[in-house]
Amino acid sequence: MDDFGPVGEGASMAHYVRAENGSEYLAKSPSFNPGLPYVAANEFIAVGLASIVVLPVLDYKIIENGADLWFGSSWIEKNKSFYPALSKELFARAGNKSRCYDIATFDYWIYNTDRHVHNLLLRKQATGGGVVAELLVLNDHSHALIQAGTSPADMTNYVGEIPALHLDFLREAVTSASSLSASVELIQGIPDEKIRSVCRSTPQEWLKDKETVLVEQFLCTRRDNLRKLINDSIVVLPALKGKKI
Ligand SMILES: Nc1ncnc2c1ncn2[C@@H]1O[C@H](COP(=O)(O)OP(=O)(O)O)[C@@H](O)[C@H]1O
Ligand SMILES: [Mg+2]
Repeated sequence: MDDFGPVGEGASMAHYVRAENGSEYLAKSPSFNPGLPYVAANEFIAVGLASIVVLPVLDYKIIENGADLWFGSSWIEKNKSFYPALSKELFARAGNKSRCYDIATFDYWIYNTDRHVHNLLLRKQATGGGVVAELLVLNDHSHALIQAGTSPADMTNYVGEIPALHLDFLREAVTSASSLSASVELIQGIPDEKIRSVCRSTPQEWLKDKETVLVEQFLCTRRDNLRKLINDSIVVLPALKGKKI
């Protein structure tokens, strides 16, 4: 494995690496920023959950570096294959902007307070015939779930909390109460066993067994309360004009 060093951006102090399979990744490890020991666990569980609800995320791998395990998401080139920062104008161009319902609901579920203009990527990919596809991809879940400066035992303290949705244009795009309700139903239909299986596949190096159970409980409780969490804060979605789902 080649470690090209820190990318020099972001709290996780992620590295740009080439793994033994010859592919390149943005890698995160508990060892990069000792103040954030759960970044890889948070990433791994969040992308596993995103995959259950079929949300677009980058392909990912667990990368071995000696005794250390790193979470790797497929390397994509800034400016060339994704825009460095999302904006209202770019969001409006996204071919899959109707995913705003699933994205907002997912962030409520996993308590993601970090969905800002660098953590929802707009990829640009030539599709032939001069057409460029511009599609949103959810990225960077290292600060969702187990919050900075806390451990899984603290999750009960914020299991009922409402996350801040920072992207105004995303909140404003939520105009249909029935579409939002459908996104909630999708998550509420996920059985405990599926959540458990994602959490329990997290490497021990990132999350101990006892801690895994606490994350599972957090996710099951928030899944069951998802509609209430959203209804209690429905004013953050201005187009719904206070109409509950
Ligand atoms: N898969 C990727 N390939 C290339 N660059 C990336 C990738 N994911 C993120 N980046 C860039 O690296 C920065 C840090 O990554 P991010 O996942 O946001 O980590 P952090 O938790 O440190 O904020 C991002 O702002 C983005 O510009
Ligand atoms: Mg980030």
